[in-house]
Amino acid sequence: MGGVTVIDHPLVQHKLTIMRKKDTSTAGFRRLLREISTLLCYEVTRELALTHEDIETPLAQMDAPVLAGKKLVFASILRAGNGLLEGMLDLVPSARVAHIGLYRDHETLQAVEYYFKAPEDISDRLVIVVDPMLATANSSIAAVEKLKERGAHNIRFLCLLAAPEGVEAFCKAHPDVPVFTASIDSHLNEKGYIVPGLGDAGDRMYGTK
Ligand code: URA
Repeated sequence: MGGVTVIDHPLVQHKLTIMRKKDTSTAGFRRLLREISTLLCYEVTRELALTHEDIETPLAQMDAPVLAGKKLVFASILRAGNGLLEGMLDLVPSARVAHIGLYRDHETLQAVEYYFKAPEDISDRLVIVVDPMLATANSSIAAVEKLKERGAHNIRFLCLLAAPEGVEAFCKAHPDVPVFTASIDSHLNEKGYIVPGLGDAGDRMYGTK
């Protein structure tokens, strides 16, 4: 069921290191995020069920594997989640998309919701929730709660970086939701940033401060 998978593929680790560097440009950061998200998507979808379909190749008929079940849902926690979304949609263009607007109150570090839109039949689909940073986990815990209230029960959580504190809190709140990340860093600082981390993912991808 739950548990944490660290995606230690060498390409993922190499790209992540460049993203962490403080001198990496906005354009470079965005390009790397798009590339790395396709690799993360590849890993998070590794266990998807297959069924078979009769097809004709130019040479013969064959019983060929295709994905089973309804289309996936990628649920992006705004705004930084959208950075992971694009690369994932490159790989799974037929996926449905949910948007969950949550911002982090910089004083309390609590998640405050301002937007929620998801496909109707979310209970029949695998939902992959995406947010680059699993820091305090307040936003991701709240996002998954929202999705469960709408009927989702087959959920995975994908991030780029996690803090041990965030992993612990998330797994305690949602032990049925497996977590996939490229790294579990050292700790959270007093402002709720992941250390060593990469800074504010939204600011780095959109060039804001
Ligand atoms: N969100 C970010 O963008 N960066 C962090 O380090 C923590 C939360």
